Amino acid sequence: MKTAIHGKHIVLGICGGIAAYKSAELLRLLTKAGANVRVMMTRNAARFVGPVTFEALSGKPVCTDLFDRTDPDAAIRHIEWAQEAHGVVIAPATASMVAKHAHGLADDALSTFLLAVTCPVAVCPSMNTDMYLSPPVQRNLEILKKDGHLVLEPGSGELACGTVGPGRLPEPPLILDRLTALLTRKDLAGRRVLVTAGPTQEPIDPVRFISNPSSGKMGYAVARAAEYRGAEVVLVSGPTSLDLPVNVRTVRVRTAREMAHAVFEQMDGADVIVKSAAVGDYRAMETAAHKIKKTADELTLTLVKNTDILKSVGLRKTRQILVGFAAETRDLKENAQEKLEKKNLDMIVGNLVGHPSSGFGTDTNRVTLFYRDGGIEPLEEMDKAEVAHLILDRVCERLP
Ligand code: CTP
Repeated sequence: MKTAIHGKHIVLGICGGIAAYKSAELLRLLTKAGANVRVMMTRNAARFVGPVTFEALSGKPVCTDLFDRTDPDAAIRHIEWAQEAHGVVIAPATASMVAKHAHGLADDALSTFLLAVTCPVAVCPSMNTDMYLSPPVQRNLEILKKDGHLVLEPGSGELACGTVGPGRLPEPPLILDRLTALLTRKDLAGRRVLVTAGPTQEPIDPVRFISNPSSGKMGYAVARAAEYRGAEVVLVSGPTSLDLPVNVRTVRVRTAREMAHAVFEQMDGADVIVKSAAVGDYRAMETAAHKIKKTADELTLTLVKNTDILKSVGLRKTRQILVGFAAETRDLKENAQEKLEKKNLDMIVGNLVGHPSSGFGTDTNRVTLFYRDGGIEPLEEMDKAEVAHLILDRVCERLP
């Protein structure tokens, strides 16, 4: 999948902390995302994990010392790498490196390199809780933030030293996520995006419900992509088992009525509304207060129609760009275009469900975009994150 990391020069700076072992996983994730990664480590970092590990994973020499006699180019490397880098991530960043960079000290390869860097930098402090919370470290982190660096909050938990509290290096997927966000162009900055995702559940009795196989992956991908692009995002999510997107306000709902309520409450402030949720069209007219026993041979449920949330939003909307989804098993073009018209949408994302690589639960999707002006754009099969960015590209073209 191509994200903002793909094809970029990233420098991974590693300091001497116990969490240095996690840097190997981060490097693997970065290269998997298509980044061209160079590793620079402090001498103390090399005591925790050997440079050979990082050399093997990055496929490139690792810089540990500006005055390495076996490497005549080492002294100019820090300037070259700084000029070429699109992004830098320091993980783990020790108290010492944080202090050095906050005060412009350059006494080893990594701190010297950092002074020459002009691209975005993500700093991931990791240390003992008391060290992390100490006034000097907090002061220095504030300086780094004021200097425009992204400082990632460390995670909380039991640390290697036995203390419990903040100081843990965030998990590598989270660091990758934040670095990707940092390097994504902010073409939705200042915009509010409302996304719905996942299925709804319509209860029949306390232990049973009517639902559908929607995983929520498409909507979560849209929310995440919009956040990467600088939008303020509200995600109204039906029940899913997915990790919540970072820096996104998620409102969890269960039924279509709860989803409708949340959407109507949020829609007025939104500039863009993307409704990818698979909303239950019907609910049980009555929900039994207790578990229905299997005494009768036949059971008839009476269902009543739920509000079509998207249609109501289409009727109420003023300036918002409204994007709907259409999951069809046949006649995609006719059905999608009819929904586009009927629900007053700017765009509808149509997909034929039932194919193994597209639709419910899959990581990829093959969709066709239908526009209000009659335009049709069939897309190749691609990762849902890529589909999300493409949808947002088209949204951006239509924003005033
Ligand atoms: N939708 C909605 N509220 C509903 C039903 C659907 O907001 N009660 C939205 C979905 O989020 C999606 C779009 O409408 O963006 C199309 O959903 P889909 O299930 O494909 O179509 P329906 O309008 O329900 O029509 P049908 O089931 O007859 O195909």
